[in-house]
Amino acid sequence: MCKKVCTRVIILFFSFLPLIVQAQKVPPVPPPFRVDNLVCEYKINPISVDEAAPRLGWKLITRDRNIQQIAYEIRVGSNAVSLLKGKDLLWTSGKVNSNESLHVYYGGPALASRQKVYWQVRVWNNRQQVTPWSMVNSWKMGLLKPADWSAKWIENNYLSDTTGGPCPMFRKTFKLDHKVRAAHLYITAHGLYEAQFNGKRISSDYFAPGWTSYNKRLQYQVYDVTADLLKGDNAVGVTLGDGWYRGYTYNRKKNVYGTKLGLLFQLEVVYTNGKRILINSDKTWKVAYGPIRSSSFFDGEVYDARKEKKGWSTIAYKDLNWDSVRTIDTVKENLVATFGPPVRKHEMFKPIKVFTTPAGEHVVDFGQNLVGWVQFKLNAKAGDTVKLFHAEVLDQKGNFYTKNLRTAKQENVYVFKGDSVETFEPHFTFQGFRYLKVEGYEGQLDSTNVAAFALYSDMVQTGMFSTSNPLINQLQHNIQWGQKGNFIDVPTDCPQRDERMGWTGDAQAFSRTATFNMDVAGFFTKWLKDLSADQHKNGAVPYVIPNMLDSASAAASGWSDVATIVPWNIYLAYGDKKVLENQYPSMTAWVGYITRHTRNGLWDTGNHFGDWLFYAGTDYEDGAALTDKNLIAQAFYAYSTQLVINAATILGKEDDVKKYTALLADIKKAFQAEYVTPNGRMISGTQTSYVLALNFDLLPENLRESAAKRLVNNIEDYDEHITTGFLGTPYICHVLSRFGHTDIAYDLLMKESYPSWLYPVKNGATTIWERWDGIKPNGTFEDPEMNSFNHYAYGAIGDWMYRVIAGINTDEGSPGFHKINIFPHPGGKLTNANAELETLYGKVKSAWSIDNGIFTLDVIVPPNTTAMVTLPAVDGPVTESNIDINNNKDIANIKPAGGDMQMDVGSGTYQFKYILKTHKKNS
Ligand code: BGC
Repeated sequence: MCKKVCTRVIILFFSFLPLIVQAQKVPPVPPPFRVDNLVCEYKINPISVDEAAPRLGWKLITRDRNIQQIAYEIRVGSNAVSLLKGKDLLWTSGKVNSNESLHVYYGGPALASRQKVYWQVRVWNNRQQVTPWSMVNSWKMGLLKPADWSAKWIENNYLSDTTGGPCPMFRKTFKLDHKVRAAHLYITAHGLYEAQFNGKRISSDYFAPGWTSYNKRLQYQVYDVTADLLKGDNAVGVTLGDGWYRGYTYNRKKNVYGTKLGLLFQLEVVYTNGKRILINSDKTWKVAYGPIRSSSFFDGEVYDARKEKKGWSTIAYKDLNWDSVRTIDTVKENLVATFGPPVRKHEMFKPIKVFTTPAGEHVVDFGQNLVGWVQFKLNAKAGDTVKLFHAEVLDQKGNFYTKNLRTAKQENVYVFKGDSVETFEPHFTFQGFRYLKVEGYEGQLDSTNVAAFALYSDMVQTGMFSTSNPLINQLQHNIQWGQKGNFIDVPTDCPQRDERMGWTGDAQAFSRTATFNMDVAGFFTKWLKDLSADQHKNGAVPYVIPNMLDSASAAASGWSDVATIVPWNIYLAYGDKKVLENQYPSMTAWVGYITRHTRNGLWDTGNHFGDWLFYAGTDYEDGAALTDKNLIAQAFYAYSTQLVINAATILGKEDDVKKYTALLADIKKAFQAEYVTPNGRMISGTQTSYVLALNFDLLPENLRESAAKRLVNNIEDYDEHITTGFLGTPYICHVLSRFGHTDIAYDLLMKESYPSWLYPVKNGATTIWERWDGIKPNGTFEDPEMNSFNHYAYGAIGDWMYRVIAGINTDEGSPGFHKINIFPHPGGKLTNANAELETLYGKVKSAWSIDNGIFTLDVIVPPNTTAMVTLPAVDGPVTESNIDINNNKDIANIKPAGGDMQMDVGSGTYQFKYILKTHKKNS
């Protein structure tokens, strides 16, 4: 049998052989050169743009090497079909000789509110190729003037409508006489809203309209609801919650922005016959309380299912007992389109363990400290009540621990209506937790009836980092989860205790790392607008943004410097010059504020948080790591001034460059006179003190090497432990690397005992802790007043991991990774490290491994960018894709750099191989 079959196969093979040979001879078809990923103001096909001249961007797609854009052409039209034919254009850029593929301004006639336009682009490259016209994308303008809003703000008339009370539900029915061609809903609220059409939630966004400095900037959202509406009768229902608007916040303060919840709703429908009608919030709406008896970010939600109004947002529902609403005349000048990403539901976690604690508590472990909520599907008798409590950790005895939540209850209460299986998840609250304690339900809990969902701003994950060391991988995981849990419309300090505010120091410290992990361009751009809005007239930048603390004019070094640091980091990551343009007045106002608060050139006034949560343990000398707060203030004064100079240079403000350069020289002079001895010893002999002085170039050139050595000595005195707080931590490893001590930086990173980055990891952390010792080496907790297990600031090491271990960096002169520096730094006994970053140009990759002394580096450089690759510790010949680099036409400007080797490459995929010098030495 086999013989027969085998013979047939052989015959078949030979009869096809000529074809196979022929197929092999045909040269491979080059992958097509095209443009894709068209974005307008960072978004794909946005429908609420309020920029008069929106910026457009695209990615070049090709697998060829050395591809540069040399020209582009954009065309914009009001009709997609005509646009494809190149007819009836609103605007064409013509062929523009330029390599710009990001942030290209629309240059056509002014666009009106609601106007939708379609656009395409094509691109020429340096190989005389031109792409076909791209797919057609679009953008739609938002409501640009207050007068575009004909809807009225509506409120209920209930005296009981106050913070912590039931959530009002608003509803209206309406008739659509014709078939709908397009329907757009423009909606916002005082408070949070959740809207439904005909019984169905209109979007997957949560906590809309987001958190902004409401009285100055209140975002509205726009939804295309064409598919949600029916010809004939329709119903709409909107529930409002306290949220950030009037809910309990820091120090149990409430009603920060107002006392009354309100809704603004404008549904614009265009029929297929062209007629346009409006369904607005007005006096015809009705209101009632429903099942949500209270809802608070800090305290959770109380939901009484017996009070549900079944079908309340459908046409069938009878609302005879509902109450009338009132309209109010509130200004609409503060309404702005939404810039950042909405909060959405993301990962789902099933229980990894369900157990009873020694204290007899019924607890579920989801295995990850996350931010969001628990959904359950349970059944019980009508009136039975289940209570869900949330905690980040168990205590030393294994009991449920909530003291570190301070006054935040994080408690969801559900009263059953007595149906078969009741599914519940809350609406206007979120919890920070890994553990769930359930009271009032004795039945079994398992993956069929409880699940945890993570909610966070819908940022695309752009970064990936992994190594051969599982502890470092867990650290990276923790950094990313710290970001997920704390990027909830604004960058918060922590997501669980009674705080959850946009603390500026934390945000600036983590911001550069954030740009590696996820696309945070929109997220931070939006938040910076609130920073500008809340900046005090005298230039002071509040501690928290949006500012809801009483100390409106307070400012602190390292915190308020967020005004210069975040715009700069966004500029570096995304090449976004406009963010610098927009923030420039705020940046200069901040430096102006400091200057006016100096004495003899020293900023030594005011209250500062200093190097917050630095190591102050008892193992060594108590308080030895305490850095003088005024020294820190002067250092950040210099850094902010430097960043203003950088921004002024980029924006072509030459007078300002001169002015601030002179100021910076004085700041540094004053710094040296006050805080540095003539031999370069800092008055605070701490790691943070040397780190800031070196990172911000505050010391004369001739004292820098020795200062770096003193830093190393200090680290060695602490047995290679880190002692920095929030302000020194982001820079310490960078400073060490810059002065040739990457080995010491690795020692710090790899340390597993307290204080170190890996100490929490070894103790089971799944997020970054607020303190180096949230759980002390003896197993007890730090002070519950300040002990969050999800605080991202120390996660700022992530930036060094991407930029130095893997070695992916943007050239500052060509930001947004238009020119890339690839310079991996092997060390720390790692045998490999792999990082990828999806930049606005495309994917950058640097992945290295060491095998038997052979160093292999895989690099991807996206089209329309170039890279300078530095190969570390080269010994002997280097190959790229098995060709000696000296004979490789794709490698240019090869030159030695110390013991390393530098070269320039264009876009494409590369693999370098050589013998690593250090390995040879050691072996
Ligand atoms: C926050 C910090 C914040 C700090 C200011 C704390 O309560 O949680 O992260 O930066 O206050 O000192």
